[in-house]
Order: sequence, then C-alpha cells, then structure tokens
Amino acid sequence: MQIHETIAGLRAARGKAGEVSTLALVPTMGNLHEGHIALMTQARAHADQVAATIFVNRLQFRPGEDFEKYPRTFAADCEKLAAAGVEHLFAPDEAEMYPQPQSYHVEPPPEQAGILDGEFRPGHFRGVATVVMKLFQIAQPDVALFGKKDYQQLMVIRNMVREFNLPIEIIGGETVRAADGLALSSRNGYLSAAERAEAPRLCKVLTKVIDAVRGGARDFPLLEQGAITELRANGWVPDYVALRKKLDLQLPSAHDSGLVVLAAARLGSTRLIDNLEV
Ligand code: PAJ
Repeated sequence: MQIHETIAGLRAARGKAGEVSTLALVPTMGNLHEGHIALMTQARAHADQVAATIFVNRLQFRPGEDFEKYPRTFAADCEKLAAAGVEHLFAPDEAEMYPQPQSYHVEPPPEQAGILDGEFRPGHFRGVATVVMKLFQIAQPDVALFGKKDYQQLMVIRNMVREFNLPIEIIGGETVRAADGLALSSRNGYLSAAERAEAPRLCKVLTKVIDAVRGGARDFPLLEQGAITELRANGWVPDYVALRKKLDLQLPSAHDSGLVVLAAARLGSTRLIDNLEV
C-alpha cells in the first residue's frame, strides 16, 4: 500500500494509473473497524484501485465536541488497510488539507443539513460536505463509498454530487454491527463496560419501531415517543428518534412507504447514532 501525505503525491500516483484504471475512494477519520473495512472490500468490486483517506476533519466538529480526543490509531489503521488490499492511503495533515483559513465552504441546504443530526450539531454537515468536496477534487475518484450508518451524511453527499454535477458514483454500504446489534463506531470505544452492555438498546428500540411500521402502525409520533421513553427510562438522553422518508429524510405522511427510523442519543458522555430502514 502506498501512503501519500501530500496532495501532489496522491495526484502523481493517480495520474500514472488514471488513464487505464478506475479509482474508488473511501473517506474515513481513521480508528478503523470492520464497518470501514467492509466499505474497502465493497470498493474493490467497483474499481481497479481503492484509495482510503484518513483525516480527522476539524471543520465538522463543534467547539466542545470530541475533536481533540477522537481516537488516532494510524499504525493499526495502516495494517488493516494493507490487509484489506487497499492500494492507496491518503493521510494529509491539517496544513496540507486546509489553507489558513479555508474561506470557501460547501453549504448544504437547511432542509437537509439543519434537521436531525444537523439540528443538534449545527455546521456539522457543512464541515463534512466541504472536506468531502475537497477529497473528491484531490483524488478524482470514479466511485466513492459511504456507510448507511451515517444516513444523513450519505444523503447530503449524494445531493451535493448531483447538484455540482460531479462525475462520481456514490455507493452506500450497509451498517456493520457487533453480534449484539450495536452499530460499529469509533465512538463505541468511549463507552464504559456498563455503558457498552446497555448500548445495543438503541438498535433494539429502532427495531421495535420498524417492526410496528411493518405491522401496519401509522401513528409515527407515538412510535417515536415510545422509543424515546424507553431510552430515557434506561438512562439515555435522546436527541431524537425520527421516522422519515428514505429519499430526503423529510416527514412522511401516513401512506408513504420507503421509510427509515433514525436516532441519536447520549449514553453517559458518549453520543451514539443509528438507523434502520423499514
Ligand atoms: P468515519 O466516521 O470514520 O466513517 C467513515 C465511513 O465509514 C463513513 O462513510 C461511515 O458512514 C462509514 N461507517 C462508519 N461506521 C460504519 C458501520 N458500522 N458500518 C458501515 N459503515 C460505517 O464519516 C466520516 O468518517 C466522516 O464524516 C467523513 C465522511 C470521512 C468526512 O470527514
């Protein structure tokens, strides 16, 4: 695996191979787990070469969030990527990625980026869209993969690519879970043993909601409230549990199909998100 710390280095490698081969890009913030590696494996089926990126993007963290303590495990990440057969790793430092300061940004519309996670993390999706746009311009991939674990992020990126006419195919990967149902996440490492034992409840309450919808229940606010109540009763502080339309994450009406239930909730000091498609 070639490790590129500079834009010029990645571009040079891309330039050599670019005329004859296609590239799949998998952006990450590192601390890689099987969810990330599943995206790498899937990427392989869509292009001749796979490039991962590792960059903890300060722009998408709010002051007081976990930018400083976000786990940085570069050596272990490199081993996992090499074992997965990834050809290129782009791992720039902040000075390489951002001029001081980055003064142009990609601003997703509030209907997409101000709801759900964007309501509780103002500016988050602006930071995500800006760094992903930069990574796309730097690597010029044919295909890019993102996990459904971050469902709203995937939607924002799909729409950004469409509205800016970027010639990149976006592919969504299924959420990889631990045996007890907990969606894998770098932030799971923050959980104490007791919190880790409690954490699968998030996915369990979402499963109850989608089972009810599949069974014909149509009082969506009641289902959301039931999930919130169960989480609160078990020590969680939920930000939201929301049934939405898959396509645009807007509010569904009773006859809509193609729904997804999304949730974010704090367990102790750790904020977890998850979602399930109906
Ligand atoms: P990060 O949280 O490192 O996630 C990188 C990619 O892995 C994202 O597309 C995310 O949706 C996916 N992913 C995370 N956990 C997953 C799981 N359990 N199953 C499947 N896929 C999973 O998301 C980001 O980084 C950043 O916002 C980024 C897009 C890199 C921009 O900075």
